[in-house]
Amino acid sequence: MALEAQTKSIVAQFDYTDEDVNKGVKEFLRQMGEGLEKDGTSMSQIPTYVTAVPNGTEKGLYMAVDLGGTNFRVCSIQLNGDTTFNLTYTKVAIPKELMVAKTAQQLFAFLAKQIELFLRTHHEEHFEAHVRRRLTVSSPDGYMDENVFRLGFTFSFPVQQSGINKGTLIRWTKGFDIPDAIGKDVCALLQIEIDRLHLPVRVAALVNDTVGTLMARSYTSPGKTGAVLGAIFGTGTNGAYIEKLENLKKPLTGEYDKSTGDMVINTEWGSFDNQLNVLPNTSWDIQLDKSSVNPGIQMYEKRVSGMFLGEILRLALLDLLKDPKVSFFKDENSSSNDWKSTTNIAEDSSIYTEWGIDTAIMSVAAADNTPELSVLRQELESTLHIHSPAHDDAEAFKAIAGAVARRAARLAAVAIAAVVLQTGQLSASNDEPVDIGVDGSLVEHYPYFREMIYEALRIIDGVGEEGAKRIRIGVAKDGSGVGAALIALVAAGMEKSTTTADYFSE
Ligand code: GLC
Repeated sequence: MALEAQTKSIVAQFDYTDEDVNKGVKEFLRQMGEGLEKDGTSMSQIPTYVTAVPNGTEKGLYMAVDLGGTNFRVCSIQLNGDTTFNLTYTKVAIPKELMVAKTAQQLFAFLAKQIELFLRTHHEEHFEAHVRRRLTVSSPDGYMDENVFRLGFTFSFPVQQSGINKGTLIRWTKGFDIPDAIGKDVCALLQIEIDRLHLPVRVAALVNDTVGTLMARSYTSPGKTGAVLGAIFGTGTNGAYIEKLENLKKPLTGEYDKSTGDMVINTEWGSFDNQLNVLPNTSWDIQLDKSSVNPGIQMYEKRVSGMFLGEILRLALLDLLKDPKVSFFKDENSSSNDWKSTTNIAEDSSIYTEWGIDTAIMSVAAADNTPELSVLRQELESTLHIHSPAHDDAEAFKAIAGAVARRAARLAAVAIAAVVLQTGQLSASNDEPVDIGVDGSLVEHYPYFREMIYEALRIIDGVGEEGAKRIRIGVAKDGSGVGAALIALVAAGMEKSTTTADYFSE
């Protein structure tokens, strides 16, 4: 009984009521407005210099790399011009020590090496043609080497952009921490390492994964207006949307095409409400923030995205395990005074390690609707080394994990609704769908995440049942790769005549 009561009380602390959701949307809109007016606000509202979305007819072979969270992906993308594409990719886990390397150069050298390996495996022909060209070119006047890949660099961290392929890192997020890189142009850092290896690759565009997702969604499912928002709910969370240039009051430094009257804005909504005006704040949220590499920052992300949900859950579970009045994963035969040895959890269990619970197990918990919770219990045994977990304990685990995820989904709805309201699309006097592209492990793998978002959307003022029906949230699989290729295509079109000297400067 004690367990049931304690579980209920923990679950209640993750309640995020309809009223909270509506308050959240109002504050979100206010902070979006603030970010459009000036620099240095908690939501950065970064202009991306991308002024239009694709319509599905774009064609060509491009490269894209994606540095964003846990993995580094290298791909080449053939855009077929008929809303379809073919993608070849490799993925490698980013070594933990490089996430906190001493110098940025160490990380970027690793990235360039991965690009080289990819090219040697999948595009050897480009290499050879490029090398031949290097040997035979004698005229210094400009030509476009068709064997030089244009690469879209998806770099999913807050960057102050000053052009389509220029931008300096504002701060690291998601566990990365290489102070040396802050303030540096990340495209230049990558290009230098690419050139060191003499690769036929030119970094043509700098892309946030959310911008890529927005582009990809527009390419693959073009509607009358294209997608209005690209959002990631994965390791981190963020969104990019189309804003009217006239609403963008802060000064822009780079060149851009003004003809569409629009610009894609990277909101960096992970840092929505760092000041905690409206965000919920349990004791576990506070603990998590304190032990993160960036306390006080990315406060919304720390309540919504995959990197953090497992840790919130872990901290709540530890409180329950330490509670002498509650029997939770207890070893009934133990009479020890040390709380750890009274449990039936192996000493080496990652439940005792910071960041030791992967959000994936929360998906398993949510998906297991068997009366015995047998799938979840097996998972608890195999991944968290809990010996023969009892049904009631698994049920408590499932309830708490579910509450953490449900709060995340409702917070996700706050961001989505605020952006949709900001674009004014719902008030247009038609019933066209308002299209949103999403990507990331949470939306892809957490059962009912989208359903929980819709449930919250329906109760939001200005959206309601009718509005929620018009909002179409579609997964843009591989969005950031395809999107980066699409932006590289735009950028390649904008390149002025480039000289061989530019390519072969060494
Ligand atoms: C973090 C980054 C942001 C990125 C998001 C999703 O919030 O700061 O740039 O888009 O994660 O990967």
